[in-house]
Amino acid sequence: MSTRLDLQSLLMQARGTAGVSCRRHLNGMLSSLIHTVGIDRNYVRGEGPYLWDDRGNRILDCLAGFGAIAVGRAHPVVTDALEQCLRLAPPNWVRMENNALAAEAARRLVGAAGVSATRVFFTNSGTEAVEAAIKFATRHTGRSGLLSWSDSFHGLTCGSLSVNGNDDLREGYGALLPNCDRIEFGDLSRLEQALHSRNVAALIVEPVQGKTLRDMGEGRLSEAHAMCRKHGTLLVADEVQSGCGRTGTFLACHADGVDPDLAVLSKALSGGLVPVGALLVGDDVWNSTYSSLDRVFAHSSTFHEGSLAMTAVIATLAVIEEERLCDQSRALGVELREGLTRACSSCRSFRSVLGRGLMIGVDFEPAGVASPASLPMIGDRLYPIVGQSIVSSLLNDHEVLAQVTGAKRPVLKFLPPMTITADDARHIANATASALRSFENGSAYRAAIGAALRLTSARLRGGGD
Ligand SMILES: Cc1ncc(COP(=O)(O)O)c(C=O)c1O
Repeated sequence: MSTRLDLQSLLMQARGTAGVSCRRHLNGMLSSLIHTVGIDRNYVRGEGPYLWDDRGNRILDCLAGFGAIAVGRAHPVVTDALEQCLRLAPPNWVRMENNALAAEAARRLVGAAGVSATRVFFTNSGTEAVEAAIKFATRHTGRSGLLSWSDSFHGLTCGSLSVNGNDDLREGYGALLPNCDRIEFGDLSRLEQALHSRNVAALIVEPVQGKTLRDMGEGRLSEAHAMCRKHGTLLVADEVQSGCGRTGTFLACHADGVDPDLAVLSKALSGGLVPVGALLVGDDVWNSTYSSLDRVFAHSSTFHEGSLAMTAVIATLAVIEEERLCDQSRALGVELREGLTRACSSCRSFRSVLGRGLMIGVDFEPAGVASPASLPMIGDRLYPIVGQSIVSSLLNDHEVLAQVTGAKRPVLKFLPPMTITADDARHIANATASALRSFENGSAYRAAIGAALRLTSARLRGGGD
């Protein structure tokens, strides 16, 4: 028998060399970024919505693994279910069987989602589920066109990148998928024109955009769906980030009165522990792909429907239901919105609160910051760096981990686990106001310029530290 792996000792040792090894073997630019912005910490424990660093500081995690940690870290129900799964060891990936765990996960997911799309294709990530949506939609309609909104984000593999609404992310990868068109966010008359070609398989939308935290406004997603129907185009709701209750309803598009033709979920479904994604599809669309016995694997993937992933889905759905996390996100979202508005209204740089439920953020004006054009060394990286300096102040002065996102202008974004408390929400609001003020009074601004210059020179040196 081989030697037992002592994971605890290995972890302690690996933490000591993580910076060097990451720069050497992983994404060194990420190491440089967190170091330059001043947010590099050694996280040693996570529970619920909190992280602990090696100095014993407790941090409120509003980044939450870009939304994957939606039911909190180490949720006892999810952890226990996964431990049971490892002990029981139901045979994994037999493939030539009726997979009981996958069938149960699909049945429960369809019930929770409350959509008319009742077939489920499980994947291992959000982008894979978007890829599947593109394939199912194009095969069913016999059309190759795809539409999406400006500033949208649907993943970074080649198909999902083709419908990405950010030009900079697509740059340098050649033609990608043909016939993809991006329309200015929410422009319904341009949408109608584009649909007229009758070559559009699908319009893919985030009901609440992850990058900008905008939604289309009352009734407009439903109007877009009606236009799609008229022209034989399928509506794909990309709920990878907004789904599973984060915005206050299980699917964000339900608040818009929309029953999508296809729906994409991921992130939260993982229970924060096992990567998983899911595409929900109606019978007719499904049958166009699985149209005969010799096409049973026309769309498939080696690792889909794995036992641990299916267990994570089942346990996570149970937690969302039992802890009434949709209601919790809605109620705390309202409290957080009011708290942010109240606390930040006296800040010169505060513009408005954006988003829905616990997918929420602050639109701020980097007031008093010299225009990027006057700082050619920094150029268009100034605004993101200004945002990063506020992120740094949130973490270092208030123990809140958040992110800066946005398209043309920075948005300070909070995506906390749905299990935060009202006290946590108050803390986020007060910390944000304080971080904006420290930016306005110059300290964070000076830090931003310093960081931008350090980042620029690191880049000129080739990216390493
Ligand atoms: C709306 C949306 N779609 C798709 C994706 C891609 O998911 P993944 O990162 O799991 O590939 C993301 C990721 O952030 C997302 O927010």
